[in-house]
Amino acid sequence: MTTVQNPEHPINHHGQLNSSSAPPALEARSIYKTFRERKQEIQVLDGLSLAVQPGQFVSIIGPSGSGKSTLFHIIGGLTAPDAGSIWMNGADVTGQKGRIAYMPQQPALFPWRTVLDNVLLPRELAGMDKEHTIQEARRWIERAGLSEFEQAYPHTLSGGMQQRTAFLRAMMSPHEVMCLDEPFSALDALTRSDMQHWLLDIWEENRRSVLMITHHIEEALLLSDTVYVLSSRPAQVLQKIDVPFPRPRRENILSDPAFLEMKGAISSMMREELKK
Ligand SMILES: Nc1ncnc2c1ncn2[C@@H]1O[C@H](COP(=O)(O)OP(=O)(O)OP(=O)(O)O)[C@@H](O)[C@H]1O
Ligand SMILES: [Mg+2]
Repeated sequence: MTTVQNPEHPINHHGQLNSSSAPPALEARSIYKTFRERKQEIQVLDGLSLAVQPGQFVSIIGPSGSGKSTLFHIIGGLTAPDAGSIWMNGADVTGQKGRIAYMPQQPALFPWRTVLDNVLLPRELAGMDKEHTIQEARRWIERAGLSEFEQAYPHTLSGGMQQRTAFLRAMMSPHEVMCLDEPFSALDALTRSDMQHWLLDIWEENRRSVLMITHHIEEALLLSDTVYVLSSRPAQVLQKIDVPFPRPRRENILSDPAFLEMKGAISSMMREELKK
């Protein structure tokens, strides 16, 4: 697989992570957001802060409706926060669009473009040569089990196939920071597990900075360096958990007693939060 060339890439030419003194690849600083609609006020984010260090894989777990997707809209510059700011590599980028590889919760594919042309879009927008990237796109489409559907249009695909296409589109983005909003939620357990391990392999090879929303605790622990557990709405960080398991990680960590203990602890924390 080809690495996306990016001068800000966190891996230096010795294959090591660049100095830890570098500013976070992505940071949300004390974000507040309240939606006001027809005299109703819904406070969604309550001073939420989090950071993704360069080359880190970070997950967010939190109750449904707690404000996770809203946070992503704010990070992507699609929604303005009431207070707080978004920083990338030491610069305030609050409100700026087009800086992240973003996979929204709804696949949002372009209906007039085939699977292949949807996947190629981010490279096209970046002015990169189509012929040059088409081979890479085809390899990824094959790995996601979509080869037969390369020339299909989105409305002819299942929900899970649309989701995989949207995932590949985000992977093809030249932006170093990826924000994935429940990337595998529509997939059956086996396909999901296959996609998780594929993402793990790709990420351990390339070390892009990733922020991923998931409801799946095991998925978060398998993939992440850090997991943020959020409260119910209005969302605050309940706990920031550093996941200690060494890399490369493989399937066998899922049955490791320390892994199961962490999974149990997060699960109890979520149950307690939902009771409130
Ligand atoms: N544009 C909007 N206008 C008004 N309310 C909104 C808007 N967007 C989101 N909300 C409300 O904000 C709250 C949080 O929504 P959000 O989509 O961020 O939750 P979530 O944590 O992503 O949930 P899920 O896990 O179900 O995807 C919900 O109560 C939702 O109704
Ligand atoms: Mg959501």
